[in-house]
Amino acid sequence: MALSNNLVKEVSTLKKTIQFTLNGQEVTVDIEADAILLDLLRETLDLTGTKKGCGEGECGACTVIVNDEAVNSCIYPAFKVENCRVLTIEGLGSRDHPHPLQVSFLEKGAVQCGFCTPGMLLSAHTLLQKNRNPEEKDIKTALAGNLCRCSGYQKIIAAVSDAAKKNTINKR
Ligand code: FES
Ligand code: FES
Repeated sequence: MALSNNLVKEVSTLKKTIQFTLNGQEVTVDIEADAILLDLLRETLDLTGTKKGCGEGECGACTVIVNDEAVNSCIYPAFKVENCRVLTIEGLGSRDHPHPLQVSFLEKGAVQCGFCTPGMLLSAHTLLQKNRNPEEKDIKTALAGNLCRCSGYQKIIAAVSDAAKKNTINKR
C-alpha cells in the first residue's frame, strides 16, 4: 500500500542526532533523516568552503574526506558520517597556516576562479595520504572526478606533483 503524502512528509522530516569528528573536533548535531552532507556542512555548520556545483555527483566541487576517502558530499547522506572523521577544506589549512598542497597550488598558478579548488585539494590530499610519490597518471586518476572549467588541469597536476616531491605532506 502506498504511503499517504502526509506520512511521506513526516518520515522525511524525522530528526536524528549524530556525532562525528569534523576537522578534528567532536560535533553533535540534529539533522533531518534525509539530510545531505553538503547541506549540513554549508547551511547548518556554516562551513561554506565546500562548494556546490552540479549537486548530482558529477563535478567534484563538493568533495570532502570521510574516514580517509574522498566523497561527493552533495549526494552523501548526512547520517552516514555518524562516528566518522570528516575533513573539509577548513580543516586542511588556513590563510595563516596553509597546507603544503595549498602552497603548491598557489606557487604553480593552479588556482584561477577557485571554485573547484577545495575539492581538488581534498582529492589530492586523499591521494597523497595513500601514495606519497604518485606518477602523473595516478594524479589524473585521483582527480578524474573533479572538474575545472578554467585551468586546463596541467597546472593542478603540476601542483600536486610538486607537493608530493617536496615530501612535506603530514598526516592530518
Ligand atoms: S556539487 Fe557534488 S559533485 Fe558536483
Ligand atoms: S579554477 Fe575555476 S573551475 Fe577550476
